[in-house]
Amino acid sequence: MAETAPEKRLYIKTYGCQMNVYDSERMADVLRPLGYAVADSPEDADLVVLNTCHIRERAAEKVFSEVGRLKALKTARAADGASMTIAVAGCVAQAQGAEIMARAPAVDLVVGPQAYHQLPELIARTARARGERLAADFAPDAKFDALPAQRVVSGPAAFLTVQEGCDKFCSFCVVPYTRGAEWSRPVAAIVQEAEGLAAQGVREVTLLGQNVNAYAGEGPDGRPVSLARLLYRLAEIPGLERLRYTTSHPNDLGEDLIAAHGDLPQLMPYLHLPVQAGSDRVLRAMNRKHTAAGYLRLVERLRAARPDLALSGDFIVGFPGETEADFEATLALVREAAYAAAFTFKYSRRPGTPAAALPDQVAEEVKAERLARLQALIDAQQTAFNAGTVGRRVRVLFERRGRRPGQLVGKSPYLQAVWAEAPDSLLGQIAEVTITGLGTNSLAGALATTPAAAPHEVAA
Ligand code: SAH
Ligand code: SF4
Ligand code: F3S
Repeated sequence: MAETAPEKRLYIKTYGCQMNVYDSERMADVLRPLGYAVADSPEDADLVVLNTCHIRERAAEKVFSEVGRLKALKTARAADGASMTIAVAGCVAQAQGAEIMARAPAVDLVVGPQAYHQLPELIARTARARGERLAADFAPDAKFDALPAQRVVSGPAAFLTVQEGCDKFCSFCVVPYTRGAEWSRPVAAIVQEAEGLAAQGVREVTLLGQNVNAYAGEGPDGRPVSLARLLYRLAEIPGLERLRYTTSHPNDLGEDLIAAHGDLPQLMPYLHLPVQAGSDRVLRAMNRKHTAAGYLRLVERLRAARPDLALSGDFIVGFPGETEADFEATLALVREAAYAAAFTFKYSRRPGTPAAALPDQVAEEVKAERLARLQALIDAQQTAFNAGTVGRRVRVLFERRGRRPGQLVGKSPYLQAVWAEAPDSLLGQIAEVTITGLGTNSLAGALATTPAAAPHEVAA
């Protein structure tokens, strides 16, 4: 271990997707050698990092209100002769860096998603002379090369970013602008990071990417490797018992990846595959480049490979020009696809995206009403899916203690939260659990007492 300076408090607040969660962990890794220890509140923090999301208007606006709250803490700290550095990172930093510096003088520095390896330098410079600091360029390879090899993880489930950026340019979405072009990390770097995680007791790794199934990282022979091949390679690492990946685009779902869902026991039977809408007219306006029928065919092939697959998705209601008939096509698609879970959003107009300029923006009340109807359908499907697992025996990876003493909480293969009475010795371990009941946000289970064979982590 390198000598470290007296401990400083670092508070990181994370918004947005799992890739931001991963980035926040890695920012903590970058700052640890500088003496920064992660605190769980911004009070008395020497450094506060807001890792932001730009995906919807409300997400972006949250940053400015949070900066307002932090400003009061910063002023109070200054009165005590101490300082608080406020950094804005993530996708709002990338998209609106200059605006943040102008609108929020309490912010000391702005650092884009591909530049946080520069945080130590930016902080040092800020300490020397307070002024405008912007680092928001696109060079993901530089970012990953400059990160410390060592990661500090808590718990047996970890994220691992393998791909960044997006070339799809859905007409509503800011991601291609905030995260840049699709780029994949080389296989060797990912294997090394995964081996390090397994050595720390990690049992489950979720591979992350804005379009993770477009993964095409450099393999050992210098040629690109598909996500499916990467999964088979990671499955060889002793101790890594579970693999997941998110988020996928329907157009990048290759034959070999579908086959992997049938073949690879470590690959969990859960897939987040956003479709956004069920009307081909709307899909075309969204520039999604797939049809509703094409999506449903994919789902059918996935279920042929893995009949118990839990399907998840994302939906946008109230895209410009969406009619009642278009919306009903979304409901019809949902009924046919049968989701185990899904995220639903009202369309949010994002400046700089093509859809922002479209005529026929849908009224707020219409969006709200459609959202409620879609949400009710998805809630019913989710309840039905969960009810279908009651009485079944599943393997649960226990991740943390439950609310009551003697309870542990973990995840089923289908990404359901399951709690059970279990000894602490099972923390971080996978155990057979019989699902006994449905709760609001989790399932109740009981440790199974007899061992069972579990070819796919699930015994019928
Ligand atoms: N790369 C992923 C999704 C990234 S954003 C994918 O393509 O699947 C996560 C979700 O936010 C999207 O799937 C979409 O449903 C939603 N979203 C993106 N832009 C939006 C906008 N302008 N308004 C409302 N929802 C949006
Ligand atoms: Fe956004 Fe579409 Fe890219 Fe997903 S695929 S990140 S929704 S542009
Ligand atoms: Fe948000 Fe950026 Fe993720 S906009 S959803 S944090 S890629």
